[in-house]
Amino acid sequence: MTTSTGNEPNWNALRTLALAAADHAYAPYSDFHVGAAALVDDGRMISGCNVENASFGLTQCAENTLIGALAMSGGGKLVAVLTVGNGAPVMPCGRCRQLLWEHGLPETLIDGDGTVRRLDEILPGAFDATKM
Ligand code: THU
Repeated sequence: MTTSTGNEPNWNALRTLALAAADHAYAPYSDFHVGAAALVDDGRMISGCNVENASFGLTQCAENTLIGALAMSGGGKLVAVLTVGNGAPVMPCGRCRQLLWEHGLPETLIDGDGTVRRLDEILPGAFDATKM
């Protein structure tokens, strides 16, 4: 965990953190090494990598590991998230968008392909506890 001053995302720092996280990926099946990094609303920065499984469907995406790191380091809301795969930008998959939604805000910023978008733009009409 690293900290950042203020709540303005330092995208370069997030990219560096995501690339470092990807170095920890366990991806013997896809050989796609994914790292995700996020700025939390208290200024700390967290990261996660993908962890694959021989039963492919049990694979854990980098963003999933990131959510575990969020909980383990004190919780809070995600302000900005950046994901890389094999060194290049990657958009979070559909399942990960839902995971990020639970711990983010509609205005949480996502950089998955070099363009920064709001979470509610990439997961419109999201399902959550308010819909139950
Ligand atoms: N993967 C992620 O970690 N995050 C995503 O948002 C997309 C996919 C991983 C899962 C799997 O280990 C590999 O990328 C190939 O799909």
